[in-house]
Order: sequence, then C-alpha cells, then structure tokens
Amino acid sequence: MSRQIESVAVLGCGTMGSGIGAASAAAGCRVLMLDVTNEAAEKGAAAVDEEHRHLVTTGNFVDDLDKIGDYDWICEAIIEDVDTKRELFEKVEPLRKDGSVISSNTSGIPLRDISEGFGGRFRSDVAITHFFNPVRVMKLFELVPGEDTSAEVIEAFASFGANQLDKGVVHAKDTVNFIGNRIGCFFMLSGLHKAKPFLIDDMSQETVDAVLGKPVGLPPTGLYGLIDLIGLDVMDLVGKNLAVNLAEGDAGLGYTEFPGAEQRMLNRGQLGRKAGAGFGKMTKLDDGSRHKETFDLLSEEWRDFSDPDLEGVPTDLGEVMFTDSPQGELAWDVFGGTLRYAADLVPEIADDIVNIDNAIRWGFNWAKGPFELLDAIGCDRVIDKIEAEGAELPAMLAVLKNANSPSFYRADGTEYLSLDGQYHPRP
Ligand SMILES: NC(=O)c1ccc[n+]([C@@H]2O[C@H](COP(=O)([O-])OP(=O)(O)OC[C@H]3O[C@@H](n4cnc5c(N)ncnc54)[C@H](O)[C@@H]3O)[C@@H](O)[C@H]2O)c1
Repeated sequence: MSRQIESVAVLGCGTMGSGIGAASAAAGCRVLMLDVTNEAAEKGAAAVDEEHRHLVTTGNFVDDLDKIGDYDWICEAIIEDVDTKRELFEKVEPLRKDGSVISSNTSGIPLRDISEGFGGRFRSDVAITHFFNPVRVMKLFELVPGEDTSAEVIEAFASFGANQLDKGVVHAKDTVNFIGNRIGCFFMLSGLHKAKPFLIDDMSQETVDAVLGKPVGLPPTGLYGLIDLIGLDVMDLVGKNLAVNLAEGDAGLGYTEFPGAEQRMLNRGQLGRKAGAGFGKMTKLDDGSRHKETFDLLSEEWRDFSDPDLEGVPTDLGEVMFTDSPQGELAWDVFGGTLRYAADLVPEIADDIVNIDNAIRWGFNWAKGPFELLDAIGCDRVIDKIEAEGAELPAMLAVLKNANSPSFYRADGTEYLSLDGQYHPRP
C-alpha cells in the first residue's frame, strides 16, 4: 500500500510549525494547526497566505487533538525536549488513523530516543522530517528513517517534500544532528575555539568573519555573524546534545563547550540578534544613522566596528587556505578542519557524498558542498597538506587516494565517488 499525503496536522505552531503549516497550505493541503493555546495556534496560522487560509483549521492540544484522526501526516514541531515530544506522541498515537504518517521536526535528537518503547505501528510510520528556518525559503529537507521505518513511509515523505513542497530532499541517517547541523555546527563550535589564538595574535573578529565568508564560499556572516543569527542559546543546546550523543573519538567532542568569554556572554543573555546584542550590535542614533559595534572577546568590552583586513587574501574560491599568512592559517584550521571532519563522516551520517554536499549547500548556503569544494581546490593539494602535517587522511580522502582518483565527481558532476572506490551515477 503506498501512502498519500494530502492533509497535514502540525503540532506546535512556533517558528517552524507555522512555516510548515504555511508551506503545506500553499501546496493545496488541508492543514490542522494545534498548539498549547488557541492563541498560539492562531498566531502561527497568521503565516499562511490569505489565499490558502481557508484550508487551515486551528485549535489546542487539549480540546482538539482528536481531530488529527482526519489527517494524513502528523508533523510535530514543539520545543526541543525529548520528554515533551514523547509525551505528545503518546497522546497522538491512539488518535491517528491507520495509514497516516508521523514525524518530528527535531533539529538533532536521534529518532531512536524519541521512539524508544513505542509500538510497531508508530515505529514503522515515524521519521524525522527536518526543515530549515525559514521554511518557505530554505530548500533543505532532511529525511531520517528510524530502524523500523517502512520504505513506503520514507517514499511518501520524499515525494511530498520534493513534489508538493518543492524542497531538496536529503537522506540522512539517525545520528545526532543529522547531516547539515552536524557539519555546520562543527564549523561554528570548533571555530569559536580555533579562532582564539588568532585573536590573541591581534587578528580582529571582523577579519575572522571576513576570511571565513566569501573567500571560502560561505555567506558573509562568517563565524561570529552566523552564531549571532542563530543564537548562543541554541548553540549551547546543540553542544550539550553533541556531548551526550557523539561517539568516543569524534573530533567534535573537543568543542561541545564554549570558551570562557562566550560562556559568560550566554550567562548574561548576550545571545545574538534576538537579544539585541551578541558578538556585534547595531544602535540607532538620534540622527537616524546606525552605529555598529563589536564585542571584543579578549577585553570583553564593546568597541567600534573596524574594517576587516583582507590584504593578500586571494579571491579564488578556497585559495586562501594555501596562503602563507595568518588569514591563510585561520582558513585552513577552521574551514579546512570542517572539510576534513565532513570527509570523515561517510558512511556514519549519510551513505554518500552527494547527500552531504546537498545538505550543506541547501541548509547553510555554502557556494559548494564540502566534497565539491575539495574538488574545486584540488584534492591532491589537500591530501599533500594533511600528510605534510603528519595527520591521518579522513576516510573519503583515503578512498579517493586509494582509487587513484583526482576528484570526488567526474563526467561533469554526473558521477560521484562512493565508499567502494567506484564512481556511480549522481541521483
Ligand atoms: N528554529 C529553527 O531554526 C529550527 C530549525 C529546525 C528545526 N527546529 C526544531 O523545530 C522544533 C520547533 O522549534 P521552533 O524554533 O519552531 O520553536 P518555537 O519556540 O518557535 O516553537 C515551539 C512551539 O512549542 C510550543 N510549546 C512550548 N512548550 C510546549 C509544551 N510543553 N508542550 C507542547 N508544546 C509546547 C510553543 O507553544 C511553540 O508553538 C524544535 O524541535 C526545534 O529544535 C528549529
């Protein structure tokens, strides 16, 4: 029996639930939006376009939960707390109809922790459907099956995501933070630590952000600007989740806690844009102009924003990593370190490099995914640099070297190198 998704019940109508509800209504689905209170659900439903508003019904978890029995997909998007999610799923399970599919939009809690102890019907019908914020804009849709999720359920989600919601579907494995956040958060959390010696050697935070932006194909927010956008509180939760769930020996374990100054920022609520101040802040002056300041992580005081120093930084994509300068060393250490980390995660987080490249481009807006970028800068140069440092090659670079291959993709990108050392057609 194939599963059809033509109606969606969204549980939790905050930032993500409202976006998922709005996108589903825009795709022509009947949508039920429930939250703790009617007011919260109504607020979420305000994200729905006027022209599709007639498709949406709202309500609350106490009075209206039984209405989910009339919907094909039950999509949970409540707070990121495993016990709260499990409690809600326990109430939902007896109320949903046979043949419906069910999912969590968690950012990183493994599905096995959510579904542990649930019965067979739940376990075969549940998956993680991980959208990125803002839902209507971001293309990435990570799809994660559990151990017992049936193939037809995954097919239904993949088809709905691609065809109805126009998303880029990425198939991830049930590991902490899935693909996008595993690599993206490694960049951010390791970056906070690895940038410190450069700051001590007089590099400005503005320069750190500028080097870790366009020169390596990342958005202009770089490192600190990106964390300001996401929020130190979110990064703190991510770090705690990684600390519990990463396997022993994982390089990410060294960076699950903030350095001292960043921890003190978190403690006093200096969280980023949502709090009005993070690593930077913008003040509107009486004359209407804006004053930009940077929170100096060494003195732990505010100072005026200063222009970054990009002198001698090449503009060719990724070339900075091979430059003999402090900026070059920073780029190699932080960004090159992230590429090396990504190259070590097949098959742990995904079966192939294509899903990783797609996840990072669609979820973090990198110009190229990690493996596409390695191809662009020359895998041989990266291998030489790693070996010159006496370090071990990450798994996929070792596969490439053993296969005597110059690149991860060939035939104009239509074929990719797999873990078996062979090229396969790119899906
Ligand atoms: N915001 C993001 O960038 C983002 C991206 C991807 C995934 N996620 C995940 O999506 C989920 C929702 O995140 P969000 O950013 O929309 O959060 P949010 O805070 O905007 O919304 C959370 C919703 O949960 C409801 N809620 C609060 N306490 C509850 C309780 N005890 N029981 C049931 N519902 C309760 C709130 O009323 C609210 O509608 C989380 O699992 C989060 O990790 C967030």
